[in-house]
Amino acid sequence: MTTIEAPAPPGTPGTQGPPSTPREIGGIGHRIPRHEDARLIEGQGNFLDDVVLPGMLHMAILRADVAHAKINSIDTAAASAVDGVIAIVTGELMAQHNLAWMPTLSGDTQAVLVTDKVRYQGQEIAAVIATDRYIAEDAVSLIEVDYEMLPPVTTPQQAMEHGAPLIRDEKDGQTDNLVYEWESGDEAATDAAFASADRIVSIETHYPRSHPSPLETCGVIADVNSVTGQATLYLTSQAPHAHRTLFAMVAGLPEQDIRIISPDLGGGFGNKVPIYPGYVVATAASLLLGAPVKWIETRSENLISTGFARDYYMKGELAVNDDGRIQALRVDMLSDQGAFFADAQPTKFKAGLFHVVTGSYDYPSAHIKCRGAFTNKAPGGVAYRCSFRITEASFLIERLVQTAAYELDIDPAEFRLRNFIQPEQFPYESPTGFVYDSGDYPTALRKALDAVGYEQLREEQVAKRAEGKLMGIGIAHFTEAVGAGPSKQYDIAGLKMFDSAELRVHPTGKAILKLGVKSQGQGHETTFAQIVAEELGIPVTDVKVVEGDTDHTPYGLGTYASRSTPVGGAATAMVARKLADKARLIAAHLLEAADADIELENGKLFVRGTPDRSVTIQDVAFAAYTNLPDGMEHGLEGVTYYDPPNLTYPYGSYVVVVDVDADTGEWEVRRMVALDDCGVRINPMIVEGQIHGGLTEGFAMSSMQWITFDDEGNCIGSNFMDYLLPTSWETPRFELLETSVPSPHHPIGAKGVGESATVGSPAAFVNAVVDAVAHLGVRNIDMPVLPDRVWSAIQGASGGD
Ligand code: CDP
Repeated sequence: MTTIEAPAPPGTPGTQGPPSTPREIGGIGHRIPRHEDARLIEGQGNFLDDVVLPGMLHMAILRADVAHAKINSIDTAAASAVDGVIAIVTGELMAQHNLAWMPTLSGDTQAVLVTDKVRYQGQEIAAVIATDRYIAEDAVSLIEVDYEMLPPVTTPQQAMEHGAPLIRDEKDGQTDNLVYEWESGDEAATDAAFASADRIVSIETHYPRSHPSPLETCGVIADVNSVTGQATLYLTSQAPHAHRTLFAMVAGLPEQDIRIISPDLGGGFGNKVPIYPGYVVATAASLLLGAPVKWIETRSENLISTGFARDYYMKGELAVNDDGRIQALRVDMLSDQGAFFADAQPTKFKAGLFHVVTGSYDYPSAHIKCRGAFTNKAPGGVAYRCSFRITEASFLIERLVQTAAYELDIDPAEFRLRNFIQPEQFPYESPTGFVYDSGDYPTALRKALDAVGYEQLREEQVAKRAEGKLMGIGIAHFTEAVGAGPSKQYDIAGLKMFDSAELRVHPTGKAILKLGVKSQGQGHETTFAQIVAEELGIPVTDVKVVEGDTDHTPYGLGTYASRSTPVGGAATAMVARKLADKARLIAAHLLEAADADIELENGKLFVRGTPDRSVTIQDVAFAAYTNLPDGMEHGLEGVTYYDPPNLTYPYGSYVVVVDVDADTGEWEVRRMVALDDCGVRINPMIVEGQIHGGLTEGFAMSSMQWITFDDEGNCIGSNFMDYLLPTSWETPRFELLETSVPSPHHPIGAKGVGESATVGSPAAFVNAVVDAVAHLGVRNIDMPVLPDRVWSAIQGASGGD
């Protein structure tokens, strides 16, 4: 996987141009190697598994091996007798402490340990606490559970059938398996547009269930001191502050006595956003036993039981006129939520931000109907490298647009160009109420098409078809909505979404920046230091970034959905600007000049018009503790809580070229050109790394990576032999391009980027394979696009055997 970078010459329209700070300061736009890498590459990281506390006990969890069954009894006698077993925790014990159930991030409740019936394979039934992990695991295997089997419900369609077994029979008033029913847009206007349109194009598709599977699984070390009441949790958490508040609410512990330390994380991808039962059981066990208790999942536990993603069944219809203009969109979506509604959805939006499904196109009306169903599967729907269900939405609209182009016999690129929101239309309000901030979609798509040589490829395709050979060119143009959020609209479990930064410049001019967000590998220690360097001129190497300790960082909502830079990054710029204001006053005092005449540039504060009358930011920092104007408080520090006025809207144009073997259905990526626009790039190298990761995941989902279940609800995909993650061997080369249209309301113009590539690329890959066989009449192939599916499509189209 090599990048063929196409670095734009400085000043090229639509790109960022050279950085404004010199390399030795290293502000925005510098390709600075990641500060954190020295520590991580040399084995000096501090992950959960590196933390060892005196007297630490180990916990292992007994999980259900069936999907739906009443529990008649749990026999723990043999397990209790094992030498080294300290305690066995069951649902009954948790219930005595009112902890058998816990709230989820989406306003549902979830069983911590089963008290009535098992609702999915892998559900937590009991936990063994022992002096070491091997003993705990051995004892788990000795616990006998007497199940009374119940019929499993394994698809949302089955769940919605009249008379389907009721999964959530413990919920007051719940009489069916419906989780939510939610709609967005204007139904009457949409119906009217459909009634008068020249034609209706429709597609039904399934974005299958997949799993984020971070390198490091989820875990906790709970250390609760029953005398002082102090609870310290080392937790694999993407949102330590929000988790602390929820722990306080669930356990009734005073929030000031809970300290969550989220150490180095080996990836998160949404998997480390939910609160898992294991965290709660380990904490309760530590409280009851008076010793630290550690629990960390095995790989199979992680794959079977923790936050899945996707699993959306979607029907989309476009009303289009013969001139190739879209008039309206109608969507009917049914999601498989598993047994508990446990992913994070903003309270106002039951299907997350799925209603951004109108995409990058300009038309007046849309109506989106979303339903979620409980099934006998692990809870799903986490933000796996995407902002709240936008991956599914982008996939649907981009598959639909391609289908419409075929049906109208218009080139898919031309169809998009004809329907794009135009640059002068921004800010643009979509039919479902999103206000897109900025963009230049036609330039982006044209640039990607030029880079790939689109016209020539189409000619080649015609020639190949004449020889019976198959090649396809797939396009996806997506708009993501990231950076949640304006607190008036977005929340997690009622906690409004904003973020924070606390910055202190020490007397020697070195700084420490503390953040409410939490990196899982995205490089925050480098990029956030670059923002401070940009604003104050303090060299990037002099800025230490601290995250993930609730006692030592300001309150924030955490890192997921590409929100860190648009929200935490903005907070960083804002707090640095506060400090710059004070620095100017101090400089004026030192230079005996008027406050209003002081300018700050690259770490030098000087009198306007006489740059030689200057002091450095380091001189000012020293003076902040030693030599201040009369009446000024000491110190150079501040904190900002930033509530963005809007989301930011990164976008991209992707083009994939594939060659398909007509005899086997195997397909190979010949080229993948990915143009991304994430506004101002703070560290272009890190941005490219994020895009590589996202593209790889998009490729994985389109080609191999999915979790299936048999009719009994057994999870097929509980290990990396069955759940296929691509390696560098399978992953194609990516050619990266960029444009840069800054977000107007963001203090530094950046938009988020981490997830966009995963959001945009699956449709590009699938569109490419479908394009290769579209002339045979094939309009859809389900994801993952396995060779046998392609082969069947070819056979079906040609009436072959
Ligand atoms: O929330 P998360 O960190 O996953 O996503 P993000 O804010 O989109 O950023 C991912 C990484 O890319 C961070 O290190 C960002 O600071 C960096 N980034 C950047 O350098 N320039 C941008 N315009 C956006 C992100």
